[in-house]
Amino acid sequence: MRCGVVIVAAGRGERLGRPINKALVPLGEKPLLLHCLDAFQDQEDVHDLVLVAHELDLDFLRSGHLAAQLKDLGVRRVVPGGARRQDSVLAGLKALQEVDGALIHDAARPFVSRKLVRELALGLDDHHGVLPVVPVTSTVKSVDEQGFITRTVPRNNLRLAQTPQAGRLVDLLHAMEAADKDGVEFTDDVAALERAGLEVMTITDSSLNSKITTESDLSQAELLLAQILRKGKE
Ligand code: CTP
Ligand code: MG
Repeated sequence: MRCGVVIVAAGRGERLGRPINKALVPLGEKPLLLHCLDAFQDQEDVHDLVLVAHELDLDFLRSGHLAAQLKDLGVRRVVPGGARRQDSVLAGLKALQEVDGALIHDAARPFVSRKLVRELALGLDDHHGVLPVVPVTSTVKSVDEQGFITRTVPRNNLRLAQTPQAGRLVDLLHAMEAADKDGVEFTDDVAALERAGLEVMTITDSSLNSKITTESDLSQAELLLAQILRKGKE
């Protein structure tokens, strides 16, 4: 399916607590947001790529020294995001051109693989939505307001959602606009498809594609990047 990519980078990175947006914080030798772009380059099914940025970063990303790099890495448009992640996602989806499917990815996940991008785009030929997941490996407890355990939740059927989250563009737009109208908030994108009663398939992904939220995640990512670069040279 002809797919467009929406990279959401319009948050503020409050939990990382740096003076600049998390997406612009360096990882290795380049800003975090540049890392994920490699996975979408020269992909047969990827035909458009939109970067959703914070209002305050717009000028810099459109005309600063990063602008040429973004263009080389396939970014066609940089559009302003909104207050909530779902507002940013909707702004990105609306900016996509001449595609039937959309892959929505967090700029804060630098280690997304090319293989996953290919599988997600292929998956959209057969499904309304496709979600990369990792199995839950820890024991999960449900607790009451005082902190007492109310039950142990069987984890066999539990999965953690990652990105890129993939859906058919028309379904995503309808489902997200309907959710917006009804005042429903989501923490991930395919939840809007689920709410609209559409089937979403999962693909088991690697835990390396995890999100950078805190300083500790960033330190781990630096180690992983060094390891990847070392392997590349061997
Ligand atoms: N995001 C966005 N627009 C928002 C909020 C989040 O585009 N209004 C993006 C972030 O830039 C990030 C991704 O969604 O790439 C995942 O969000 P998160 O990890 O929560 O990033 P931030 O919201 O930036 O971080 P924090 O919650 O710590 O402030
Ligand atoms: Mg956030």
